[in-house]
Amino acid sequence: MFDQKIICFSDTHFVEHGETIIGIDPVARFERGLNHALATHPDADRVMIVGDLTHHGRPAQFERLKAALAGVDLPLHLTLGNHDRRDAFRTVFGGAGFAQEVVDLGGLNLVLLDTLDGPPYPDGHHAGRLCAERLAWLEDQLSRSAKPVILALHHPPFDVGFPGMDAIKLLNAGDLAQILDRAGNVIHIISGHVHRTISGQWLGIPYAIFKSPAHQMPMLMEGTKSSSSTDEPGAYGIICTKGTDITIHTEDFDIAGAATDDAHSS
Ligand SMILES: [Fe+2]
Repeated sequence: MFDQKIICFSDTHFVEHGETIIGIDPVARFERGLNHALATHPDADRVMIVGDLTHHGRPAQFERLKAALAGVDLPLHLTLGNHDRRDAFRTVFGGAGFAQEVVDLGGLNLVLLDTLDGPPYPDGHHAGRLCAERLAWLEDQLSRSAKPVILALHHPPFDVGFPGMDAIKLLNAGDLAQILDRAGNVIHIISGHVHRTISGQWLGIPYAIFKSPAHQMPMLMEGTKSSSSTDEPGAYGIICTKGTDITIHTEDFDIAGAATDDAHSS
């Protein structure tokens, strides 16, 4: 039915053995979600994680993520968020430089963009920023793409209505906007960072933001801190493409019901 089906996680926040976040074991949550996704979608083509792979960016946390992904027999596409550290990521996963790439999806290209600001990484700094090198890379990749593009990046470049999170979005969103305007070929944006299922449009480009498999942003749209968290069911996204068409689902895997043969009326 689809040309490509991408299982998309965001904000996996891997911790070290014995650590939890507001009482949640994010590693166990991710492993349940991944197992659910792979069992439910045996036709999946890829697995993507759009940043905040880890909670503190420590090598031991990246090692646990690598181990959790070891059994996945699909291409993996990882980019970084504000809780990650690029040097530790590269030490564990190999490669060099920014965690970004272009993926051919057939009728579309997927561009992963690394919005982690730094190094250096000042304590308490969680906003994203694209340096001149990454802006130039993106402009070059978009100009080369003869196909429409899905752009995946950790930090949303737009406000979502949670003041604490809006304060730590992508800081130089104006630079990104100018590049997208000149290129004219980005037709969808995928983000993480907010830990909440959100959709909308920015500059006329539709976007989708996925929940974390672990802790979520509470639905308090006034005065929230960026660190506010709540223990709601975790989720992952399913990005399906056919030609240049895009269909996006989200799955709250811990409350997903089993299928029955009963016809539903909708
Ligand atoms: Fe996060």
